[in-house]
Amino acid sequence: MAVYYPQVFDTADEAAARAIILTDEGEGADTATRWERETPYLVELVRGHVRLGPESLLLDYGCGIGRMAKALIAATGCRVVGVDISARMRAMAAEHVADDRFLAVSPAQLDGMVQHGLRADAALAVWVLQHCLAPAEDIDRLGRALAPQGRLFVLNMPGRAVPAVQEEAGAARFMWAADGIDVAALLRGRFAVDAAGVPDMSRVPRMSSIGAYWMVLRG
Ligand SMILES: C[S@@+](CC[C@H](N)C(=O)[O-])C[C@H]1O[C@@H](n2cnc3c(N)ncnc32)[C@H](O)[C@@H]1O
Repeated sequence: MAVYYPQVFDTADEAAARAIILTDEGEGADTATRWERETPYLVELVRGHVRLGPESLLLDYGCGIGRMAKALIAATGCRVVGVDISARMRAMAAEHVADDRFLAVSPAQLDGMVQHGLRADAALAVWVLQHCLAPAEDIDRLGRALAPQGRLFVLNMPGRAVPAVQEEAGAARFMWAADGIDVAALLRGRFAVDAAGVPDMSRVPRMSSIGAYWMVLRG
């Protein structure tokens, strides 16, 4: 039986974090190439659909080491609350983004902030929801955290890739498990779709050809 294993995101250092954030998908789509090509493209894609400026508060849900947060703060001057289940990712994000306009918190801390009135102008979930054990809960959390008319930008894999380990011949084997949950359908059930598309093949190599999609959603 496969057991959920989010510890895969608790990497020892930033190099290992980058490798799990944008996995090596082979020729032309290794971690460094994906990072370099995709990040500025996503900044422009997000900015084309979500108004962000120095007064905006953005949630970067599943922020990892803060790749998108750092690039969007540089491009727009917005404030970002990064949210991540991994304490290691949150610590590395604080170092990588290294900006007074950035803070990284756990999902539980975000829930507390929302209970005390925090609402974000916009949110991102980039390559995250495919990995969540119970994505309906994460989607609900995002819905509660967004201001009315706030926009949510999602980039996701077509299938599920839930980190898990399975016992095999006395040894634990890591796997990305597919549980059949349709994240796109959950998103459409919770939000209205403002815009949607397939990322540019040349900027999001390999993932586009296997069916990755982006969506801009509104509460
Ligand atoms: C593939 S990485 C993407 C990181 C970042 N969004 C980027 O594109 O650079 C997925 C991240 O989502 C985080 N994550 C996974 N499940 C999560 C959950 N349920 N809530 C918050 N973060 C989660 C992981 O710890 C990891 O940092």
